[in-house]
Amino acid sequence: MFSREWESDPRPTYQQLHDTGPVHRVTLPSGSRAWLVTRHEDASAALANPSLIKDPLRFGKRSRGILSTLPDRLRTVLFRNILEMDPPEHTRVRKLVARPFSAARISRRLADVETRAVAMVDALPEREPVDIVRAFCSPYPLRIVCDLLGVPDSEESRLRVQRWARVLNAGHAADAGAYVECAGEAMAYLEELVALKRREPGDDLASAMVASQEEEDGLSPEEVIGTLFMLILAGHESTAHLLSMSLLELARDPELRRDLAEHPELLPNAAEEMLRYTSPVKLAPWRYAAHDLALAGTDIRAGEGVMVGVAAANMDPAVFPGPGRLDIRRAEAVRHLSFGRGIHFCLGAQLAKMEAAAAFRAVLNRFPDFTLAIAADSIEWQRGAMIRGPLALPLVFGS
Ligand code: HEM
Repeated sequence: MFSREWESDPRPTYQQLHDTGPVHRVTLPSGSRAWLVTRHEDASAALANPSLIKDPLRFGKRSRGILSTLPDRLRTVLFRNILEMDPPEHTRVRKLVARPFSAARISRRLADVETRAVAMVDALPEREPVDIVRAFCSPYPLRIVCDLLGVPDSEESRLRVQRWARVLNAGHAADAGAYVECAGEAMAYLEELVALKRREPGDDLASAMVASQEEEDGLSPEEVIGTLFMLILAGHESTAHLLSMSLLELARDPELRRDLAEHPELLPNAAEEMLRYTSPVKLAPWRYAAHDLALAGTDIRAGEGVMVGVAAANMDPAVFPGPGRLDIRRAEAVRHLSFGRGIHFCLGAQLAKMEAAAAFRAVLNRFPDFTLAIAADSIEWQRGAMIRGPLALPLVFGS
């Protein structure tokens, strides 16, 4: 695991892991040791287990890897967000942030999301290679999350957010100097945004978070910045990777393109199956055993790290027969764990699925045919243990 081969095709490794046992001791690329849970049943249980907690400080653990290079204030403000919190803090903050993500509110954004998808797909050049990650898969979800938050839709603002999102998302694979610089830029940008929303509130999530500061139990100024930061990063990168990996599968399979174009009613299930099959998040973020406990028969000591292998669980043959086959009609596709489970279940799940279905529809309506412009084995994959996706993906549309 964690080799170059695994980064470009992790599925054979998951098969081996399923064959050899439910819990594995692993060393991550950062050098940290952890327990890895891989089977679907155990992974679901681990994600919902209140004894696996997020806050490493409870055990006196220091920040890991590149995070430790950041000045204290940047680290504690930007990276102290709901993903890293435990109850009761998590419960309070999630309640304040969750409202705009309800299914009803998200479905009201459908027309806007579809308009964005169609406009960006219409602008793609034809009959020449285009890096679809830069031209569409990355800017499209970034723009949508920015619309939701109320980030101004200006070229300057887009470029700034795109730059620091790219560097910070690269995590430990980023250049340390650029990482610290971008974290500083992100902080300055979000402080400006908060000041703007205080002066001129709008009907957007950033304004609602700023207003909540006045309420009892509302967000603190640091929580507002940390949550905005997390939403921009979380709402953008994994969706971008879902889209690029799905377009890769569609580019390589004319039959799949035709099937989906002729059966648009399959779009929602196709999005679920793409989430399962591509698994943009390989490992759910760190958890720690709050006390000595057993997971699937393995003893774990208090304070030891536990990684939940959501991508491995999505390849568990006990739940997904023939897991290596992409099948947009697969009834059990919805059981994937790509959005996690339990109290940290992805807030953006509805939105991401809607974005994916709108993107597939826009691309297939405009371009029944498109191909990969390079050999599949020369695609460069994002480095690192947590996230999977191509760094660039040259496609030729209208070919
Ligand atoms: C949490 C995956 C898109 C916001 C999570 C978790 C996963 C995940 C696995 C749980 C982490 C854990 O249990 O530790 C994904 C994938 C996406 C996606 C695969 C796209 C394909 C989005 C979008 C947004 C978003 C579009 C928002 C605009 C969040 C938030 C949390 C979260 C706020 C933290 C929830 C909490 O801790 O209570 N996501 N996500 N995600 N996601 Fe997503």
